[in-house]
Amino acid sequence: MGIEDLRAHVADELARTRRRSAVLTDSVDDEDLVRQHSPLMSPLVWDLAHVGSQEELWLVRDVGGAEAIRPDIDDLYDAFKHARKDRPELPLLGPEEAREYVGTVRDKVFDLLDRTPLEGRRLVDGAFAFGMIVQHEQQHDETMLATHQLRRGAPVLTDEAPPRAADADSLPAEVLVRGGTFVMGTSTEPWALDNERPAHEVHVDDFWIDTTPVTNGDYQRFMADGGYDRPELWSADGWAHRLHAKLRAPRFWEHDGQRWLRRRFGHVEPVPADEPVVHVSFHEAQAYANWIGKRLPTEQEWEKAARHDPRTGRSLRYPWGDGDPGPEHANLGQRHLRPAPRGAYPEGEAPCGARQLIGDVWEWTSTDFLPYPGFSAFPYREYSEVFFGPDYKVLRGGSFGTDPAACRGTFRNWDYPIRRQIFSGFRCARTPRPEELG
Ligand SMILES: [Fe+2]
Repeated sequence: MGIEDLRAHVADELARTRRRSAVLTDSVDDEDLVRQHSPLMSPLVWDLAHVGSQEELWLVRDVGGAEAIRPDIDDLYDAFKHARKDRPELPLLGPEEAREYVGTVRDKVFDLLDRTPLEGRRLVDGAFAFGMIVQHEQQHDETMLATHQLRRGAPVLTDEAPPRAADADSLPAEVLVRGGTFVMGTSTEPWALDNERPAHEVHVDDFWIDTTPVTNGDYQRFMADGGYDRPELWSADGWAHRLHAKLRAPRFWEHDGQRWLRRRFGHVEPVPADEPVVHVSFHEAQAYANWIGKRLPTEQEWEKAARHDPRTGRSLRYPWGDGDPGPEHANLGQRHLRPAPRGAYPEGEAPCGARQLIGDVWEWTSTDFLPYPGFSAFPYREYSEVFFGPDYKVLRGGSFGTDPAACRGTFRNWDYPIRRQIFSGFRCARTPRPEELG
């Protein structure tokens, strides 16, 4: 892409992203914007001004070298200084002020986009800092969508039902991925974040992986078989959490005496059996995998299934190839506010035959969030490095709430194993028996 095309692309991405942020914050009234809908989340008005604050810090001040617009609010919107539960007590900008602030910042950013050389300095090469800010806002759009899911009251967001695949019933339950090395991570994707880098060779043994994520119907069989009452299926930490939090079903499910219902952005509806299960924790995913005699995939296995093309030996950008995600490939970008039914998006299929690796639900892996060999923090330690360690599990693939700009075959998400307000699901894997390999 030439420099002028790159500038036009950045401008489009910034504008498109802001339209989504506006939908998420204009669809509720001011009282709703400043309220805390769950101690796990910030008030929506915090997310909005925080997006502007990060954009001011990185683009206006650092890349643009311009004077600060609102240095007085830096501290309020520093995610490391105030826990989410404490944010409503801060003297935050009100809804009108927050909208005006993000608009002022954005005007300055469009000015500087026209005159900033997009090369010669690592922060601006390939428009990296702009891409980082687009992804940051998109990540907050997904967080704000999770806040909408936690909010009580009538529906305010609209969506249409996702597509269904004609061949869903004939798909195999699992596909075999042959052992060998593949290239994991990336050194070339211009907007990849530090934790996705660098590209490096990894050996993975033969494994089977589920063709699609585990569905609500599958998960209800685990529940009906006493899955929540059998400690032997759970890890020690998982069982302790299951008891403490009194878990008995995915979050947002309730039983009406006859059947399971779910609350989805204000709609209460029967749980659809053929959709991937969502709003489950790592511990629940692991207990299910034990129940069915499988395990969660490692992060390495997940990425090999998603990217390795055995015909060429190359790692693809996405399961379907190197082209950017389109609506025919994956359920991304908040077009559909639910996962697509099992087997959807045949055009998004990976070379191994697995589907729905990108979009629909974030997939828990069994792997702790750790740096790749050769990792170096960029542009700041707080993006990834401070989170590395055994406290966080890696999730892969993005959800229906994730924007294409914030999701690649190499993209890594991480969270605590107890979390389930996020759009999290899973698929299982297993090691083949010798007679299966032939
Ligand atoms: Fe943030």
